Amino acid sequence: MKTISVKDKDFELYISEQEINQIVCQLAKNISEDLKEENLLILAVLNGSFIFVADLVRNLEFDAEISFVKISSYNGVSSTGTVKQLIGLNESLENRTVLVVEDIIDSGLSMGMLLEELKKYNPKDVKVCTFLFKPNMFKGSYEVHYVGKSISDEFIVGYGLDYDGMGRKYGEIYQLKQ
Ligand code: IMP
Ligand code: MG
Repeated sequence: MKTISVKDKDFELYISEQEINQIVCQLAKNISEDLKEENLLILAVLNGSFIFVADLVRNLEFDAEISFVKISSYNGVSSTGTVKQLIGLNESLENRTVLVVEDIIDSGLSMGMLLEELKKYNPKDVKVCTFLFKPNMFKGSYEVHYVGKSISDEFIVGYGLDYDGMGRKYGEIYQLKQ
């Protein structure tokens, strides 16, 4: 089993590059079918989604505007539950369909805060897309419309996801070794 070290922790291969590709293509296909007629604004949540959204948009069957926002709530290997502010939103959302793109939804608190914030800008509709979803951890009361893959509670890195700022560069996803 392929393993990597990030800072003081060891991780083992969890989702291969090939599986990631399949997941991204399927998501892009579903999103294209549903949203190609919309004047879509894709809002990718930094930092974690930067690799995923780059792959996702290149597989969409239509062109869309892409912008990046940032929220910060996470330290080390467990969610702190403290959610900070939304920064970087410069586009008008008035009467537009927005697709929010995340790398992973864990407790769902960050996305919940973001969705509440977006409501203030009167969008036509807001859809949520996440590459990974931890259903056992999820405390949100909103719908997650596009889920790449549901996973159990392990802490993971790679494909944009970090452990303490590192490990984002890997093309595969790795889980913390027990
Ligand atoms: P939530 O608010 O608990 O849903 O956490 C969302 C954010 O925490 C994600 O956008 C990630 O940046 C980070 N996060 C959650 N789980 C993991 C993980 O397993 N590995 C790395 N980052 C994670
Ligand atoms: Mg994130």
